[in-house]
Amino acid sequence: MSQLTVSRPDPYLSEGTSPPALAPTFAPAFTGLRCRACGTPSEAGPFFVCTRCLGPLEATYDLASAADRLTRADLDSRPSDIWRFAELLPISVLPVGGLRFGASPLTPAPRLADRLGLERLWIKDDSRNPTLSFKDRVVAVAAARAVEFGFTTLACASTGNLSASVAAAAAALGLRAIVFVPADLEAAKVAQAQALGATVVRVDGPYDGVNRLCLELTDELEGWAVVNVNLRPYYAEGSKTLAFEIAQQLGWRRPDVVVAPLASGSLYTKLAKGFGELEEVGLIDPAPVRYIGGQAAGCAPIANAFVEGADICRPIERPDTIVRSLAIGTPADGRFALKLARDSVGGIFAVDDALTIDSIRLLARTEGILTETAGGVTLGALRRAIEAGTVGETDEVVLVITGNGLKTLDAVDDGRPLPAPIAPTFDAFERWWAGR
Ligand SMILES: Cc1ncc(COP(=O)(O)O)c(C=O)c1O
Ligand SMILES: [Zn+2]
Repeated sequence: MSQLTVSRPDPYLSEGTSPPALAPTFAPAFTGLRCRACGTPSEAGPFFVCTRCLGPLEATYDLASAADRLTRADLDSRPSDIWRFAELLPISVLPVGGLRFGASPLTPAPRLADRLGLERLWIKDDSRNPTLSFKDRVVAVAAARAVEFGFTTLACASTGNLSASVAAAAAALGLRAIVFVPADLEAAKVAQAQALGATVVRVDGPYDGVNRLCLELTDELEGWAVVNVNLRPYYAEGSKTLAFEIAQQLGWRRPDVVVAPLASGSLYTKLAKGFGELEEVGLIDPAPVRYIGGQAAGCAPIANAFVEGADICRPIERPDTIVRSLAIGTPADGRFALKLARDSVGGIFAVDDALTIDSIRLLARTEGILTETAGGVTLGALRRAIEAGTVGETDEVVLVITGNGLKTLDAVDDGRPLPAPIAPTFDAFERWWAGR
């Protein structure tokens, strides 16, 4: 009896569940929204398009004032999650409670580096977030804002990973979650969102239709915070925290090359915004970074436009790829991503499904990290960039792994049946071993 009641530290009540505390000096540098196309400012609210030109709105900051307040030592001493960088995020109140997001490891990858012929390769393993993808970062910021604006329902149009992030963030903040996904989504992703308490709406056809439906619903229904529609300017800023962490983990500096996947192109462009803001507030020195992006060849509107030298993307009406998480035919940030790839002397590469699968296996077997299909595309893009000479042996490279392989196990299923079970005897094992 006493053994059953003995008290021991409860792992579920350790630092993981305490509300994120922040340095007492927290004062937001966030100043409002501004149109990315024509520059017209807008007040902070659940708005996402410019009233003058219908361009996308983006968060703005008073970086000069943040520069006076932020020091490396102060940031290093804060609790390790995304709120460490609260001054550079579009929130004015820190969420109380909720999950802890971010602070994923930046790990040297010497065995993979060797296989690729690189001297310095790091993996930013963002599959280690509460719901196993980087989408937890963007949802954390959107959910914090949803609470500030007084919303009680959190919703999204998702290619899969976002649905679990919305479901989890909503559960932990006591909000209702409704997620819209393409009907052909991987079963594991639907099950994950459902288990986390979300209402899952499966919509026929590809993601673009799901997105259009959510735009319409945002118009029609009051009181819904659709994280990647009416909260998109806040949501998108969450991806910057990946760049903030990479710089901090490298000792407050930038790598030569960052490699990331693109669906809408938001994460890819926000990595550059993140490094740029750190430079503006004086936390890192100026240095060029080449941004390498990956898209699935069966849905590669941005990679195609890059190769063609075009400034805008031709929509892909029928994505045809195993990489469902990146299957967005009309990418909202496509033209910004193209500009970044060209300005930074990087590149955006299309990766076919065979190279994606091979890259998932390569990463798993060299570094012990099992990524989802998006991660296979990311490593595939790095391999293509090395072949093209865009990345060279002496470059310091950070590979951003954005999702966990348990969500897309079908992709690495080689069709072989499970090994037959053996009797628990040495003889049986010996026979089995010999007959392998
Ligand atoms: C695992 C994963 N990586 C990357 C992305 C790309 O996101 P973005 O739309 O910001 O380009 C997604 C989008 O759904 C994703 O699920
Ligand atoms: Zn405008």
